Amino acid sequence: MLKFPDGFIWGTATAAYQIEGGHDADGRGPSIWDTFSHTPNKIFKNQNGDVACDHYHRYPEDVAIMGDLGLNAYRFSISWSRVLPDGTGAANPKGLDFYSKLVDALLARNIRPFITLYHWDLPQALEDRAGWGVRSTAEAFGEYAALMGRTLGDRVKDWITLNEPLASTTAGYVFGIHAPGKMYPKLAFQVSHHLNLAHGLAVKALRATVPGSRVGITEVSMPVYPASEADRDAAERYDGFVNRWYWDPPFKGSYPADVLERLGPIAPEVADGDLKTIHQPLDFFGHNSYSRSVVRDDPESALLGATPVPQPGKPHTAMNWEVYPDHLYDALMRITRDYGAPEIYITENGSAYPDTVVDGAVEDPARTNYLRQHLAAAHRAIGDGAKLRGYFCWSLLDNFEWSYGYSKRFGLVYVDYPTQKRIVKASGRFYADVARHNRLP
Ligand code: GCO
Repeated sequence: MLKFPDGFIWGTATAAYQIEGGHDADGRGPSIWDTFSHTPNKIFKNQNGDVACDHYHRYPEDVAIMGDLGLNAYRFSISWSRVLPDGTGAANPKGLDFYSKLVDALLARNIRPFITLYHWDLPQALEDRAGWGVRSTAEAFGEYAALMGRTLGDRVKDWITLNEPLASTTAGYVFGIHAPGKMYPKLAFQVSHHLNLAHGLAVKALRATVPGSRVGITEVSMPVYPASEADRDAAERYDGFVNRWYWDPPFKGSYPADVLERLGPIAPEVADGDLKTIHQPLDFFGHNSYSRSVVRDDPESALLGATPVPQPGKPHTAMNWEVYPDHLYDALMRITRDYGAPEIYITENGSAYPDTVVDGAVEDPARTNYLRQHLAAAHRAIGDGAKLRGYFCWSLLDNFEWSYGYSKRFGLVYVDYPTQKRIVKASGRFYADVARHNRLP
């Protein structure tokens, strides 16, 4: 029996575009994900988030499910273009009202809201004005943060500026598999700098508008392990590109020198004072993590000089991600050691498996097992000094898994998309039991 510290936060996480639907309801403007998912051949079976889990209309039912499961927190994101259809300027009162009502419904159930301001869905209106490629988008983000702080800050104290800058930068601007679907590495690194700037401006805006605010950023970690002794340098280089490049600016106020050197001419332009703006005091490190990378030296990979090595024969989820629970322990200890021992929340961790409904129920022992193993790893890190304050399982509901559309199910709650019926999976009941008793049996 593993007991968690008193007051531990047990939640689930979602993101606006992945669950809300209501894509044109009540004055919402389009985002880059509406545009991208409506472009042929970008998404599995050309699916899109127009309806998704219809959470925009069904949020009372979804909040009731969380309440019934006994969860005490919920991490969700705001659709920027729902509240500011043009990205800047006039707010959409009906969009603001939706989030206000959602927050009230959560508080009525004693569920603490954690809000993510940016989970990858830039307003298309801003993309049309060069999006994250230009500094003005970072300024617009600061204004949007202030708007949300003014609207919800009387009731919501926990704020996350950005979700996984690594993913929005590389998937969106290097590999072109996420919106806006570009493939320009030089632009990607400039975008990552503008995202950092946006983060810094948003932290300032939230501090100014939310009394008693607690602000953090959510980074994804991909703990990197060398395939052999000879691959240690390769692992260090790879780690620089996937982890340190994103974690160092907000937490240390600098870009890692080894990565800057390898980037050479494609390094971003950084104006005087930017790093100071980016390096704001933070209340917590939001940490998303699912798996690890094993890498080997690879001279043919010009930029990183390293390549991931598949791990056949090891357990994998439906995303083809290796199940390696120690990665979570290693990441939490590394954040504790190298990033000033901040308070940490696991803002996402979870697994996709191909679920089926049998007699109205979903038995998903593999997901329960994944949860159990990762919670045990997190518990071990707490014992060894990590200031882990909470865990948010990805995800509450099955949802729109970006380019995989609806083909990957991550939920603790099954969604039958044609009818929008929700069914709590066996893993959801297991998680509820853990949360209710604050311990892992
Ligand atoms: C992520 C994303 C989620 C994904 C999840 C599973 O932050 O990567 O926040 O939107 O759906 O990670 O891939």
